[in-house]
Amino acid sequence: MEKERESHENGENSIVWNEKERKFETRDREAYIQYDLRGGGGGGKVMDLVHTYVPPSKRGLGLAAHLCVAAFSHAEAQSLSVIPTCSYVSDTFLPRNPSWNSMVYKEDVKSNM
Ligand code: COA
Repeated sequence: MEKERESHENGENSIVWNEKERKFETRDREAYIQYDLRGGGGGGKVMDLVHTYVPPSKRGLGLAAHLCVAAFSHAEAQSLSVIPTCSYVSDTFLPRNPSWNSMVYKEDVKSNM
């Protein structure tokens, strides 16, 4: 079991950015998190995480969490805030990894200008 978990850190399950299809995905492309980019209220850009998918044979090992970390890290580097439309992100990933909550887009935080 422990070995299986380790295999997510590298090799076939390492995560790559597919900019054209707006996804972060495993090299075999079977598992992915998909996003839309749009304008936020204060003029900033927002990454809407719309869907996460992991094939049944690989579920329960934290792969979806790795996909989320890739997406949130990318958003952070690009100064994007994040909308957790996908229920995995809002109901599982963020409660378990609350340090990423500060990046969640809040509609009431409008520009004060
Ligand atoms: N919404 C919220 N949380 C979910 C969920 C869902 N639809 N499906 C599973 N989870 C939670 C489970 O409670 C599980 O908790 P556990 O660890 O206590 O068993 C946890 O996700 C597992 O986390 P992790 O191992 O990081 O996820 P995963 O690699 O197994 O992938 C999904 C999780 C949701 C991406 C995968 O089950 C899947 O592709 N499901 C079908 C598509 C889907 O429903 N996507 C989410 C909505 S867009």
